[in-house]
Amino acid sequence: MLDTPTNRPALPPEIARRRTFAIISHPDAGKTTLTEKFLLYGGAIQMAGQVRAKGEARRTRSDFMQMEKDRGISVSASAMSFDFKNFRFNLVDTPGHSDFSEDTYRTLTAVDAAVMVIDGAKGVESQTQKLFEVCRLRDLPILTFCNKMDRESRDTFEIIDEIQENLAIDVTPASWPIGMGRDFLGCYDILRDRLELMDRADRNKVAESIEINGLDDPLLDKHVPAEQLAKLREEVEMARELLPALDPQAVLEGHMTPIWFGSAINSFGVKELMNGIGTYGPQPQVQSATPRAIAPEETKVSGFVFKVQANMDPKHRDRVAFVRLASGHFERGMKLTHVRSKKQMAVTSPVLFLAADRELAEEAWAGDIIGIPNHGQLRIGDTLTEGEALRVSGIPSFAPELLQSVRAGDPMKAKHLEKALMQFAEEGAAKVFKPAFGSGFIVGVVGALQFEVLGSRIEMEYGLPVRFEPSQFTSARWVHGPKDKVDAFMTANKQHIGHDNDGDIVYLTRLQWDIDRVARDYPDVTLSNTKEMM
Ligand code: G4P
Repeated sequence: MLDTPTNRPALPPEIARRRTFAIISHPDAGKTTLTEKFLLYGGAIQMAGQVRAKGEARRTRSDFMQMEKDRGISVSASAMSFDFKNFRFNLVDTPGHSDFSEDTYRTLTAVDAAVMVIDGAKGVESQTQKLFEVCRLRDLPILTFCNKMDRESRDTFEIIDEIQENLAIDVTPASWPIGMGRDFLGCYDILRDRLELMDRADRNKVAESIEINGLDDPLLDKHVPAEQLAKLREEVEMARELLPALDPQAVLEGHMTPIWFGSAINSFGVKELMNGIGTYGPQPQVQSATPRAIAPEETKVSGFVFKVQANMDPKHRDRVAFVRLASGHFERGMKLTHVRSKKQMAVTSPVLFLAADRELAEEAWAGDIIGIPNHGQLRIGDTLTEGEALRVSGIPSFAPELLQSVRAGDPMKAKHLEKALMQFAEEGAAKVFKPAFGSGFIVGVVGALQFEVLGSRIEMEYGLPVRFEPSQFTSARWVHGPKDKVDAFMTANKQHIGHDNDGDIVYLTRLQWDIDRVARDYPDVTLSNTKEMM
């Protein structure tokens, strides 16, 4: 049964073998280390250490920003493709910093599953919890990796209980750790009845794998000291009694998560996890869209933009739109319809993101992520099809939680600033509002770090020093309602009105009180804190 995708038999084999997922975790849990090992086993990099090295070489393709390098964090997400056994994995990177932007949320709209990495000593941390909630909104299947078992960790049952309680999801052990910290020997692979032993001498060496015939097999006595073996037998027996058995359907529906234990830095448990992603992870899924959903096996190609990254190479003003293919078999040079503008575009130089490099994508299938270089036509939420007017739905834009006014250091450069801001707004890096009253712009972000990122990017990419200043407003809401009511509302509340970069009307607020007042005084007007990007 292993390595045989089971969940959608009707899919063409090239689509069925694809697994598109993201890693969710709290900073420091080991996402980068795990990613690197994935790429190593996926043959995408030669040597461990190429993704890792924080600062200098870490994900050089996406970490083009000085600030990212300085801080050793990855502010912008990117995608990586690699093969493992007969699977094609597409790993979409989510920024792990606590001050993340809505980029992170949108990234999760482009994947079919998430791998949740937790630190065995720390359990479920705040950021993991937050990201998990986002996955839950979409019922994304989750596979869990409990990392750093080579360190003193919590009791295995305790870790599992914590996940079940905090995240309200059934947990089934796919492997069971033998010892922990200095005594960590490896794992008993519950799903495949194998003993996996960690090699402490060589961090990049794959663990020794021994086939055994159940927990009573005398082979176990040869490899595991008596005391640890007794504990293992007792715990696994208890686990089998107390915890639910693996139910692949429940995993696909997002109600159950299998958990693997390991040590990413020691390359331990990673292959088992990869096998698990292949075997139990979902194939490319149906994409919700209007007026109808899109099934991956449809022969016509369609896809949607979930991320735009501008100036990947500061020397060229290029933008790359990251497109998740929702259906079909894409071939380079194809003409696709850009549904929003109803214009055709020939996709002549699409790129695939292979670990350290971009590569021209000659072909791609539903589930894949391709990058399409463009001059700004492609925006987040845009749908591309072979002609049908479909629009992918469910890609949210969130009301910013922090607002500041922004000014060009040199007042003569106000026009340049406007151009830069509009570009970043289209890229989804920030919200930009033009107040109806007065001059200047208000920039809104979800996390405070984004102001810094934006400031340094405007300076680096446009040679334009900028100043952010406190704004009297603290939040913004999109305004909806019948035109006459909205017009009357706008006239009476001029001081609070602005437009976002798409020209949509927003109400700029100072206090929750403002919002309550509108609800009370203007029952026909709705203020919304999300806007669907389409
Ligand atoms: P992140 O991307 O989730 O933030 O985590 P990252 O992989 O950068 O790992 C965070 C730290 O945890 C790193 O140490 C890394 O070496 C360590 N680590 C990752 N996996 C394991 C593991 O299985 N066992 C142990 N013991 N440590 C692990 P650091 O000191 O921050 O960085 P570095 O000096 O090792 O580069």
